[in-house]
Amino acid sequence: MDGQKFHKKMATGYFKSIYPVIANNIIKKSRKSQGLCVDVGGGTAVLGVEIARISQFNIINVDKDARSIQLAEEYIKSQEMEKRIIPLNCSAEDLQLASESADLVVSRGSVFFWEDKVKGMREIYRVLKPGGFAYVGGGMGNYKLSQQILTGLATDKTWIEETNWRYRQNLPIHLKLMMRETNIPNWSIESSQEGTWILINKK
Ligand SMILES: C[S@@+](CC[C@H](N)C(=O)[O-])C[C@H]1O[C@@H](n2cnc3c(N)ncnc32)[C@H](O)[C@@H]1O
Repeated sequence: MDGQKFHKKMATGYFKSIYPVIANNIIKKSRKSQGLCVDVGGGTAVLGVEIARISQFNIINVDKDARSIQLAEEYIKSQEMEKRIIPLNCSAEDLQLASESADLVVSRGSVFFWEDKVKGMREIYRVLKPGGFAYVGGGMGNYKLSQQILTGLATDKTWIEETNWRYRQNLPIHLKLMMRETNIPNWSIESSQEGTWILINKK
């Protein structure tokens, strides 16, 4: 995936309006607003910036793509969030973070690309503090936004085909089977107009 192209399309272009909505959904679901938040596969940190705006979280924006990390640095700076958000270049499957260090782990639109989803989810569970919450999956925030985006991008056949293909590979039932394999307790999957999300409550 070309980080620059993605940033233009998703972060500053057409998709811009989904991130504040998703950030709000995350804060509501997690009932958390401070401590350490890790965004796994956070790309150029657009979601991280929106979470930071409405909370007191400090955020680590993890991505395995070095170019996305570089763009994240630029975006964080442009939004004057350097004191709150820090980029980290590593993969979901090998998080360079201490065990039980995060209050909240989020990940949007990334798990579908991980080579080893089971390993990535176990890593997320490892870095979560007891009492921590994880929200991992994908979506456009709400029904209205997803319809707007689908209608607006109807002419982009490649995007529609790729998105549909990836969605079929990651149906809730597949995610359920994958989560069973992790042996992680206390998870659920929510599939709604907000998207498809794996929720973990670490006891
Ligand atoms: C579709 S983009 C989503 C970016 C961001 N979460 C957003 O919603 O704007 C997917 C991101 O996941 C990253 N990614 C893919 N596989 C990864 C992995 N195994 N570990 C960490 N990041 C990964 C990609 O580099 C890319 O930045």
